[in-house]
Amino acid sequence: MLEIKGINKSFGFGRRKIHVLKGVDLEMKEGEMVALMGPSGCGKSTLLNIIGGLLAADEGGIDLKGVKYGKSSPSNVVDVRRSSVGWIFQDFHLLNHLTAKENVVFALELSGTQTSEAEERAVKALTRVGLADRMGYSPDELSGGQQQRVAIARAIAGDRPLILADEPTGNLDVASGQDILNLFKELCHDSENPISLLMVTHDPNLASQADRMLLMRDGKTEASDIRAAWGDEVADEMESEEE
Ligand SMILES: Nc1ncnc2c1ncn2[C@@H]1O[C@H](COP(=O)(O)OP(=O)(O)OP(=O)(O)O)[C@@H](O)[C@H]1O
Ligand SMILES: [Mg+2]
Repeated sequence: MLEIKGINKSFGFGRRKIHVLKGVDLEMKEGEMVALMGPSGCGKSTLLNIIGGLLAADEGGIDLKGVKYGKSSPSNVVDVRRSSVGWIFQDFHLLNHLTAKENVVFALELSGTQTSEAEERAVKALTRVGLADRMGYSPDELSGGQQQRVAIARAIAGDRPLILADEPTGNLDVASGQDILNLFKELCHDSENPISLLMVTHDPNLASQADRMLLMRDGKTEASDIRAAWGDEVADEMESEEE
């Protein structure tokens, strides 16, 4: 579904130039939930921005369900942003003056969906994330976890093949973070209409629940497990918690 080859990206010039991504290769299958980890500043958000068509890579290519881009300038990948990729952010990015339902409808309308169809899809998506009884609430009447569910509904309502989530549980307490992760698992492993999710997280416990973990190191992504990513101490601790 997603194939990424040899992505390179630098910022700055001359002596201040930093080479952030140094040949990232990555593949994802439909319905897969992949966790991307790595230290602060290693380039995780940069990679997501390139996959999401918000930033051009210097080198390399992306094939998302047959749509090819990567080095293209953002102005040439409008379709990727409009219909291929959905976003979920740490701080939800909801509009406070709109209800939950209106937030989802508005996003669909922006990407060109007719109002009546947008409303139908919004109700479906909000029901899918467990908010059927909260559609008329505004974000400040909802808990953090519920607000993130609205954002998830917004991301999946347009039937986009790939959802990118940049630290989606970063602003949530442990229990709400786990709830969101359980919802992601359900959505990815839904046999009828699976979503595919690439999620950045700093939480080893959540990352280990994904189908696959990737660690970004030296500008590349590599397959990882808990021990490789956090060392034996964290792994031992997590295992003893599970017992
Ligand atoms: N537009 C930009 N101009 C210059 N440098 C940038 C730009 N965007 C990112 N960088 C630099 O690229 C590096 C990678 O940044 P990025 O935001 O991708 O890291 P990250 O892995 O998401 O970190 P964090 O875990 O803290 O969110 C950093 O050194 C950052 O300063
Ligand atoms: Mg980041």
